[in-house]
Parts: sequence; C-alpha cells; structure tokens
Amino acid sequence: MSRLIYYVASSLDGFIADEHDSLDWLLSHAQEPGGGNDYDSFIANIGAIAMGSTTYEWVLANGGWSYEMPAWVLTTRDLAAPASTAADGTADVRFARGDVSAVYEAMRQAAGEKDLWVVGGGELAGQFADAGLLDEVHLSIAPVTLGRGRPLLPRRLDLELIEQGTNGAFVTARHRVRRAGKG
Ligand SMILES: NC(=O)c1ccc[n+]([C@@H]2O[C@H](COP(=O)([O-])OP(=O)(O)OC[C@H]3O[C@@H](n4cnc5c(N)ncnc54)[C@H](OP(=O)(O)O)[C@@H]3O)[C@@H](O)[C@H]2O)c1
Repeated sequence: MSRLIYYVASSLDGFIADEHDSLDWLLSHAQEPGGGNDYDSFIANIGAIAMGSTTYEWVLANGGWSYEMPAWVLTTRDLAAPASTAADGTADVRFARGDVSAVYEAMRQAAGEKDLWVVGGGELAGQFADAGLLDEVHLSIAPVTLGRGRPLLPRRLDLELIEQGTNGAFVTARHRVRRAGKG
C-alpha cells in the first residue's frame, strides 16, 4: 500500500523557506549520501509527487524540472508544463485545483506499489492531512533559525516518532501520522 510522505527540510524554528522563498540557508549545508533521510533511497521508491505552485515555480527557476515520475501541481492559475526534464527526459506534469482527495487517488493509480511524495509547501501537506491522507513526515532539520518564512506544517497533528538520526549538519526524523482507525 502506497504511503503519502511529506519529505522536507526545515529550519530549527519550523520554516521550509524564508519569507522571500529562498532556500540558501538550506542548500549551504551538504547532505551526505547514506545519512538519515537519504534522498536517493527515498526517491527510488516514489511513484508520484505533488506540490503547490510556489514550489513548482521555485523548481523551474532553480535548475529546472528534474522529476521523472508523474507530478501534480496544485494551482488556481493557468501555468505551463515543462517540455522536458533538465536532462532531456520526459516531464509528466499535471495541474489540479481544489480538493486534494482526487489528486491523491490519481497519484495512487499512477504510482502502483510505490510511495507518494508531497514535496511542499506546508499548507498543501496540511490539506492532505485534513483529508486523512498524510501517512508520514520525514523531516531534516537544518542548524539555522529564520524567524519568519513559509511554515513547515501549519496544522495540529499527533505524530509517532519511528526513526531518528543525523545527516551531516542535519538532525533527521521520521514520523507516522496518528489518526483514528489507522495506527
Ligand atoms: N525546505 C524544503 O525542503 C522545501 C520543500 C518544498 C518547498 N519548499 C519551498 O517552500 C516554499 C513553499 O511555498 P508555499 O508555502 O507558498 O507553498 P506551495 O504549496 O509551494 O504553494 C502554495 C500555492 O499553491 C497553490 N495551491 C495550494 N493548494 C491548492 C489547492 N488545493 N488548489 C489550488 N491551488 C492550490 C496556491 O497558489 P495559486 O493558486 O496562486 O497558484 C498557493 O498559494 C517555496 O519557496 C518552496 O520552494 C521548501
């Protein structure tokens, strides 16, 4: 059964981007292959992804589209899909708006047995949680405070710690979302 995972890095005070949508504070710290929340192991088992339009536009403006699995971008605007990935592969980007339950069903169909990744932002992860669809939160905490910015997950949720570790300068943790009727 596919899990819907919010895999994300945050500041120590709970922001995933600063107020100007900069990730300089994050990208200045290298991730170590094989460390906690290892990206390569994670992405190898992801069959579909979802993100909000701010994240989508950040990705396009910072190196271009690199995801090879089907992606859903939530937006109320008419945005253009990338013609290809930055490595000239096939980009599969679909746009959706409104209720994330329909997006979740489409992602599950596309992903087969693989997991689903909600890339961000926090409010979108919160929409999946509101619908009872968010299974896990995999968090890498950078050694920085930002004071303000884009929130990590602006909801009240009960979580169960299932793994913890480090990766270079990051503290890493995996949590399972506790919800009625599903562990
Ligand atoms: N640190 C990390 O690991 C990490 C991970 C991911 C993202 N980020 C960064 O964090 C920031 C996140 O930005 P953000 O907080 O603005 O969140 P976002 O989810 O990237 O974008 C929010 C926007 O998506 C659209 N949207 C969201 N839900 C929708 C729905 N159900 N239906 C229709 N449209 C919907 C709306 O824009 P419109 O309708 O106006 O298009 C909304 O303003 C970005 O700078 C991103 O680069 C960091």
